[in-house]
Amino acid sequence: MNPLDLIARRAYPYETEKRDRTYLALNENPFPFPEDLVDEVFRRLNSDTLRIYYDSPDEELIEKILSYLNTDFLSKNNVSVGNGADEIIYVMMLMFDRSVFFPPTYSCYRIFAKAVGAKFLEVPLTKDLRIPEVNVGEGDVVFIPNPNNPTGHVFEREEIERILKTGAFVALDEAYYEFHGESYVDLLKKYENLAVIRTFSKAFSLAAQRIGYVVSSEKFIDAYNRVRLPFNVSYVSQMFAKVALDHREIFEERTKFIVEERERMKSILRKMGYRITDSRGNFVFIFMEKEEKERLLEHLRAKNIAVRSFREGVRITIGKREENDMILKELEVFK
Ligand SMILES: Cc1ncc(COP(=O)(O)O)c(C=O)c1O
Repeated sequence: MNPLDLIARRAYPYETEKRDRTYLALNENPFPFPEDLVDEVFRRLNSDTLRIYYDSPDEELIEKILSYLNTDFLSKNNVSVGNGADEIIYVMMLMFDRSVFFPPTYSCYRIFAKAVGAKFLEVPLTKDLRIPEVNVGEGDVVFIPNPNNPTGHVFEREEIERILKTGAFVALDEAYYEFHGESYVDLLKKYENLAVIRTFSKAFSLAAQRIGYVVSSEKFIDAYNRVRLPFNVSYVSQMFAKVALDHREIFEERTKFIVEERERMKSILRKMGYRITDSRGNFVFIFMEKEEKERLLEHLRAKNIAVRSFREGVRITIGKREENDMILKELEVFK
């Protein structure tokens, strides 16, 4: 068959997201990137540097990421960057023989595996949302978001270690780390077959800049740097990330607000009788049967509110206070 027809059959088209409504579907940060920091980025950019193929990763950015990680056992050869955490995930699918993931999970794992024609294995999480028994080993890369997306729940350290001990490579996706506050980065001290992936898209309000980073053994980082595109993250995006890290207290304050709003929403949803997860991300997740879920989505569509639908239920991003109040009101009316 024509290769283009094969791709059209195998891979999914990316959707364009309409923003003419209350948009709580993509786990974005409700706060704009601060305007005075945008000014600072533009002040620090050098117009002559725009002419050159700029280093990616930029050494100064790596230093700042290392200081943000706040560990004593990592150095600059343990970190690299990606055009969003997504690029890192995409590239890892090209690096290993087989990709393994546990739905419900981050939907791009399957989307990317299909796009690049990677061999992949999906094994559902257990009923109580734990990592299932699975036959994996060397050559496999196992993608685990922690906190998980879309449920927001957190895996136990032992569950991650169980996979690490098989010899499979673990891609621990900590995209939502800041909203949970606990990381398994320290496992890198013990395991070479682990990479921790993070992003500036969520807690740092920089989804449009496309910048993420990966922390791992020198051996993995060296391999990753050989497979990814050269100059993969732009000079401008790296400057945004550096300025964000220089002012991280602003983002920590905002994260605190989002976490408080998440806990407020969880407690109200529980009182309303919704079955929810103990989410530690910047979103809440409500379990729902298909029929009830379809009715809810219809109800929210009529009110111009977008949330994300999954087979197991719906995920709602924590928005601004008034957006959260609005959706809570609609969920109460719906119930
Ligand atoms: C678990 C997980 N990993 C990675 C990403 C993508 O992050 P980035 O914007 O850095 O590509 C997301 C975005 O929603 C996510 O939920």
